[in-house]
Amino acid sequence: MPTIFITGANRGIGLEFTRQYGANGWKVIATCRNPIQPGELASLSGDIEVHGLDVTNHAQVDKLATDLNPVPIDVFVNNAGIYGPRGMTAERMDYTAWEEVFRVNTMAPFKLATTFSKHVARSEQKKLVNISSIMASNGASANGGEHIYRSSKAALNRVMRSFACDVIDREIIVSVFHPGWVKTDMGGTSADIDVMTSVAGMRDTIAGLVPSDSGKFFNYDGSSLLW
Ligand SMILES: NC(=O)c1ccc[n+]([C@@H]2O[C@H](COP(=O)([O-])OP(=O)(O)OC[C@H]3O[C@@H](n4cnc5c(N)ncnc54)[C@H](OP(=O)(O)O)[C@@H]3O)[C@@H](O)[C@H]2O)c1
Repeated sequence: MPTIFITGANRGIGLEFTRQYGANGWKVIATCRNPIQPGELASLSGDIEVHGLDVTNHAQVDKLATDLNPVPIDVFVNNAGIYGPRGMTAERMDYTAWEEVFRVNTMAPFKLATTFSKHVARSEQKKLVNISSIMASNGASANGGEHIYRSSKAALNRVMRSFACDVIDREIIVSVFHPGWVKTDMGGTSADIDVMTSVAGMRDTIAGLVPSDSGKFFNYDGSSLLW
């Protein structure tokens, strides 16, 4: 069976990715910051191995990549993310928090993608999936505010669009997804869809990705999104 690697697997969308791929017989490498207390992740059934990983800790990223060196990774999911403080304005902006959001949402996915690209390149499916947000889209979101989160995901999109070109000769398919507005700790209880719907839609879309999809931005239901 194929192998999937997921960051931020202990709750929300990452936990549901782990649950669904595990239930479908995939080997799942599920990572989270606190593997000693993985919570619900520990009770999932399937071929699931849990590793500790703070995505901003480059030494941990390098060590895990070495530990997993012989393992081909068919689908690598950069899922872990933070929103940062909400409702910041020009008059009241937390610049320290903005830097931290960039570390988690933009720089960490790049570090992980570049470090694990060799594991992905030696797999059969060769797919790198990044969970972004429609809030980063210039073409699909004309609202103001929420500069911290929007800019971090917009930068993620740009970085991954470039990275798709960098790895084209290694046949890695690099894609960016909006998971929908999802009922999680981040999305809140008023969100549009539940995690099952979001992840089921992304799984179908990921399964259908072909090389010409590299460098594209998808909604969870497989429709294309404007950058
Ligand atoms: N929910 C939505 O409506 C929505 C919409 C658009 C995009 N997204 C994106 O979807 C992804 C998942 O979001 P979610 O809704 O599932 O959020 P969530 O419920 O808040 O879960 C976030 C996950 O990221 C992990 N994480 C945060 N910082 C980390 C770090 N430094 N190292 C490792 N893991 C870290 C968290 O781990 P801890 O438990 O250790 O904090 C948690 O597992 C994010 O990238 C988010 O931006 C969500």
